[in-house]
Amino acid sequence: MRVLVTGGAGYIGSHTLLELMAQGHEVCVLDNYCNARPVVLDRVRNLSNRPVTAYTGDVRQATLLDQVMAEFAPEAVIHFAGLKAVGESMRDPLGYYDVNLGGTLALLHAMDRAGVRRIIFSSSATVYGDPEYLPYDEAHPTAPTSVYGRTKLAAETLLRDWHAAHPETCAVILRYFNPVGAHPSAQIGEDPSDTPNNLMPFIAQVAVGKRGALQIFGDDYDTPDGTGQRDYIHVVDLARAHVAALRYSAEHTGARAFNIGTGESYSVKQMVAAFQTASGQDIPCQITARRTGDIAAMQANASRANQELGWKATHSLADMTQSTWAWQSQNPDGYESD
Ligand code: NAD
Ligand code: UD1
Repeated sequence: MRVLVTGGAGYIGSHTLLELMAQGHEVCVLDNYCNARPVVLDRVRNLSNRPVTAYTGDVRQATLLDQVMAEFAPEAVIHFAGLKAVGESMRDPLGYYDVNLGGTLALLHAMDRAGVRRIIFSSSATVYGDPEYLPYDEAHPTAPTSVYGRTKLAAETLLRDWHAAHPETCAVILRYFNPVGAHPSAQIGEDPSDTPNNLMPFIAQVAVGKRGALQIFGDDYDTPDGTGQRDYIHVVDLARAHVAALRYSAEHTGARAFNIGTGESYSVKQMVAAFQTASGQDIPCQITARRTGDIAAMQANASRANQELGWKATHSLADMTQSTWAWQSQNPDGYESD
């Protein structure tokens, strides 16, 4: 299929490009590089040995979208382009609604004008909010606790309303759990532009000597070792979920959400121990106060994705930590190492 990938130069997008091309799909990227570098796509081209057409610009630009639709004529869109920093979303709600909801709206308008009927959307497990039960299934109530989460939920609602008015369409909503890890080539990976907000890139930067110590945000949670538990998923497994979703979208109509996680969860202390084993480096840690907005534990029930998308995560925790270490140690300054 010909697939337009918005935000394709980002962390998850770049890994997904490689999995799509490995399955014979033709890809085209639209990215404004607000959180990525064009060199990422050079690495993707080298690894795949395939051309990747890229348009530089904003997903909210109608004229640019019309140009891409006319020139590339996509049969489906995978929509990664968006902003994802929870703290920043609380300080800049309008900016977040503008990009995350406005971007999805502009894209759907352009898809309607061009007659494109399939979209795969990057949502997040954060739409569920405080767990009423775990593991979360897709029927769990949605009550996101951040502006970021509410923009994702609003975009999900928009997609459902779009489908309701156009029954021939398919919107696949993927609710990601915690993506970590890097491509086995160690050529592409997560490259935070600032101090990492998330656990895994922070640990990796401590291991490589860029930061002194990991702050563990609370060890008094109601979990076996007192630290927060999450369902970490290898980014290559996540990328493959998009290939499966694309196949699904060719065979189904509807607007349907799927949890994309492993169904396993690990604590902060378990992640640190696993990373020490993978890297052979000591990871100094300090216990500090809980981070506002954090929950004790979360975990996916991914059986809907397993059954309906025919997708299942296959990478282990060791795969996640080893690939992160290979990427971080071979690219200590991320893509700036180029
Ligand atoms: P990322 O920041 O690495 O990738 C997003 C890409 O979109 C970047 O290349 C950025 O330059 C581009 N972009 C942002 N705004 C744009 C705009 N207005 N126009 C064009 N391009 C734009 O993030 P990621 O981790 O790869 O996440 C991809 C998607 O998945 C996002 O929508 C994010 O909210 C969602 N998501 C991520 C996580 C996670 O933990 N990484 C978890 C759940 C959901
Ligand atoms: C965070 C976001 C969430 C987003 C997800 C994936 C918040 C409050 N939540 O979730 O909306 O969907 O990232 O991008 O920001 N930890 C430390 N020290 C650190 C960093 C993290 O102890 O320096 C702990 C956290 O308290 C948590 C675990 O590590 O228990 C994982 O944290 P993180 O990687 O930020 O993911 P989430 O908290 O799940």
